[in-house]
Amino acid sequence: MRRIVILISGRGSNMQVLLDAELPAEVAAVISNEPAAAGLEIARAHAITTAVIDHRQFPDRAAFDRVLAETVARYDPHLVVLAGFMRVLTAAFLTRFAGRIINIHPSLLPAFPGTDTHRRAIACGVRIHGCTVHFVTPELDSGPIIIQAAVPVLPADTPDTLSARVLEQEHRILPQAVRWFLEDRLRIQGERVLLSGDSRYPDSITSPLTA
Ligand code: GRF
Repeated sequence: MRRIVILISGRGSNMQVLLDAELPAEVAAVISNEPAAAGLEIARAHAITTAVIDHRQFPDRAAFDRVLAETVARYDPHLVVLAGFMRVLTAAFLTRFAGRIINIHPSLLPAFPGTDTHRRAIACGVRIHGCTVHFVTPELDSGPIIIQAAVPVLPADTPDTLSARVLEQEHRILPQAVRWFLEDRLRIQGERVLLSGDSRYPDSITSPLTA
């Protein structure tokens, strides 16, 4: 059985949908940089191995990433999923797991990389917002896009209401992307991801091109 390692920093709702998705893989570990992350409790309740690597205990990003990489590697993962992991990873980490790290980001990339995406989307008046699952490359919130889902921005929206609407879509597209990866259906070609086989994915605007 293939192994997945999930990295989190907080609530863990995206991690939870992966645990509940009956994926054809074992979640070997959930690792958090935040000791207080609520997601750790959820993982433990699912009898998943957890680890905490508190970034505050390290002198710099490189030192933190070295220990994180060693810990992740111990589980020999086929795939590493960043599910609300709020640390920027160094190129050394990303190179070690190149092509095997995916991230869920709460915007329609390349719009709104970084944090605070829902407030920024409302502030600049976009009518369409959403979320993206992508392969991770050294540039922040960049990398070949696997799948996106779009939602409207409504006149009365606050960052919280918009965030809730986007989160619902995150919970749909993240398990889908992981499943495609585990089925070996994703191929990176230049800056794009090609999806092989049946590409129908109803009720969502999706980005993958069929191979
Ligand atoms: C999600 O919106 C994710 O896209 C972003 O942080 C949030 C984490 O939520 N990076 P959760 O921890 O998965 O509930």
